[in-house]
Amino acid sequence: MTLQDLIELKAKALGQAQAAADAAAIEAVRIEYLGRKGLLPKIMQELKNVPNEDKPAFGKTVNELKNELTDLIKLKQTEFSSGGGAAPGFDLTQPGQWQGLGTRHPITQITDRITRIFQTLGFTVADGPDIETVWNNFDALNTPADHPSRDEQDTFYLKNGDLMRCHTSPVQVRYMMEHKPPVRIISPGRCYRRDTPDATHSANFHQVEGLYVDQNVSLADLKGTLSYFARELMGPDVKVRFRPHFFPFTEPSVEVDFTCHVCHGKGCRVCKNSGWIEILGAGMVDPNVFKAVGYDRSNVTGFAFGMGIERITMILYGIHDIRNLYENDVRFLSQF
Ligand code: DAH
Repeated sequence: MTLQDLIELKAKALGQAQAAADAAAIEAVRIEYLGRKGLLPKIMQELKNVPNEDKPAFGKTVNELKNELTDLIKLKQTEFSSGGGAAPGFDLTQPGQWQGLGTRHPITQITDRITRIFQTLGFTVADGPDIETVWNNFDALNTPADHPSRDEQDTFYLKNGDLMRCHTSPVQVRYMMEHKPPVRIISPGRCYRRDTPDATHSANFHQVEGLYVDQNVSLADLKGTLSYFARELMGPDVKVRFRPHFFPFTEPSVEVDFTCHVCHGKGCRVCKNSGWIEILGAGMVDPNVFKAVGYDRSNVTGFAFGMGIERITMILYGIHDIRNLYENDVRFLSQF
């Protein structure tokens, strides 16, 4: 057999394989060329009779014949085994379409970031249900009977008298009821309020609650912990301000501001020229809360804090409308 014969044979074999119209036909081609008694093994034996100067070209062509034919036969076999071939107009040999990878939702990303910062300080994550009792959500947290947040205008009540929690603070109550001090937890989760949706309000939003109870926990510990958190979240240059405030479940209570991330304290439109942005609420756990959960008020102290995740997410990513976070528009979400 000459090199020319071989080249012609290769063309013929590939042509036959290409023309095979069903599984039986392609199998016949396979046996004819690649089978144990097929043509290809015979040609391999003939290689020794080929003149030396032709050997490289001959060997190369044999290899091409073998590889190309094997590939084509495999392709045809797949085509025939997938339900008798492709539907008309469907080309099985086309590469698939890239569907793109999803991204984690910005709320999830920021929740994870906040969680990790407190985990490095030894806080563990505690969880609680979205549906709460009035006692866990209000009474145990020292909320007076006439407090406006209890109003049906503000809180979603269920028919059985339970409610959709309006903050993550009831997780404090649940956790202390089940664990002796010392306690060091954070609890991210969903909250619900009867708010009319607009650029900064949503009836469903997220908070992270924090609680630290032990002997001799002081306001200085609260300030140190939250200042560390601020620097980890916003960068080393952020300044933190603690303003007196009121929450039923803490005494004293503070609101915590960070220097504005846009103007760094100089004053701009975002911070309404004050240089500060309000980020979270905090305080020393009120002794009445300890009493409600059965802790010895004379032996332990603690601090607690709570922050809105949407607000922090909007600040960190420069999002101006909270509704973007709920509309699940991939053009918005894929930017994060
Ligand atoms: N529960 C408060 C709110 O929803 C936030 C908060 C403030 C939580 C002070 C706390 C705290 O634990 O100590 O606005």
